[in-house]
Amino acid sequence: MDLDAAARDILRANDHGGYTVPNGRVYPFQWNWDSAFVALGFDAFDRDRAWREIETLFRAQWDDGFLPHIVFWKDDPGYFPGPSVWDTGKQPVTSGITQPPVAATSIRKLWESAKAAGEGERYRSRLEALFGKLLAWHRWFATYRDFEDRGIVVAMHPWETGRDNSPEWDAPGEPIDISNVGEYVRRDTSNLDSKMRPTKLEYDRYLALVQFGRATGWDHARIAAENPFRVADVGMSMILLRANRDLAALADELEKPADAAEIRQWIDRAERGIGWLWDEELGAWGSRDTLTGRYSGFVTSASFLSFYAGLSDEHRDAAISSHFDRIGSAVEFVMPSLDPDDPGFQMIRYWRGPVWAVVNYMIGTGLAEAGDGARAERVRNDTLELMRRNGFYEAYSPVDGTGSGGDDFSWTAAIWLAWNRSAH
Ligand code: DGY
Repeated sequence: MDLDAAARDILRANDHGGYTVPNGRVYPFQWNWDSAFVALGFDAFDRDRAWREIETLFRAQWDDGFLPHIVFWKDDPGYFPGPSVWDTGKQPVTSGITQPPVAATSIRKLWESAKAAGEGERYRSRLEALFGKLLAWHRWFATYRDFEDRGIVVAMHPWETGRDNSPEWDAPGEPIDISNVGEYVRRDTSNLDSKMRPTKLEYDRYLALVQFGRATGWDHARIAAENPFRVADVGMSMILLRANRDLAALADELEKPADAAEIRQWIDRAERGIGWLWDEELGAWGSRDTLTGRYSGFVTSASFLSFYAGLSDEHRDAAISSHFDRIGSAVEFVMPSLDPDDPGFQMIRYWRGPVWAVVNYMIGTGLAEAGDGARAERVRNDTLELMRRNGFYEAYSPVDGTGSGGDDFSWTAAIWLAWNRSAH
């Protein structure tokens, strides 16, 4: 079977006209970080469509720079919680939380690829237009998600991190009051085996947080000050640091020195402050509850994103690399979303074990950039082998490679295309 063709077919089939759904059955809308990765896949065969994916996403940006995690371009009864539950009152209708800021990094990649193809001049005005929007979103992060100026990202909802049911959110989730959540009907578990999905308790907490945000009228300043869940997410923090480096490079390219200086201040702040997320006892990067100061204590796939963030430190890099090697000999396919030596590891349950192609893409990219060719190749080869054996699933068991979650999944197909490009 021609996997390139199959991957392109998935993107075309999930294309709803300017935006791509992650999977038509389980996730029938536009998701923020999904689209950022999907654009990299389109760029392998349709440059204009790649740019459009992100341009469409930014059409849903709020006036204050906030970029929502879901855009409900068309209603669809197959998903819960839908637009009426979020009730943000925006047009287009959106959710009220954001997602990992991958878009600036993707746009830089699209721009470099356009230039390499001799199409820089054609795409320059599109880059200009997107740059201002990306900058506004990153400013929003600095204001509402890093309100203590630590150079990190404080997530207000597990869905904001993209790693919905990672055990990192268990202890910080305990104080969330779920007594008024009421009755609701989940849709995810009618589409998928419930063993692959979050539990009822986790969903109750997700909904309680949505209700909290809605009760503030999605006032992000109030949410930052009062939300019952405020966790510094190592994944988003690393991703934003990387994205700011890419955005600064774009500012240079567009000859915007004042913007570049503003972005570099965020980078400096992060380089000074992100050590708050280094858990010396664990010997790993980890998330940390800002309300209690407690480390999550878990090695997850996000712990390996420091290379992608452009951080380097001999002691920390060696410690992280030894976790990589230990985990790499425990599973057939890296990088499990949770340490397989953790008692809570579950090989097919969403972010408590399965391997995700997009996280691997970021880990592998970072390792390659840091000059660790051997580990970078392990991540890339394992990821591509999972797709060769089983097709383009949402995620995969690191133990035996079985697909988990939705099939014909857009961002997985996109990573196949993006990671095979150089080989063509
Ligand atoms: C879901 O519905 O599972 C999504 O991950 C929320 O963004």
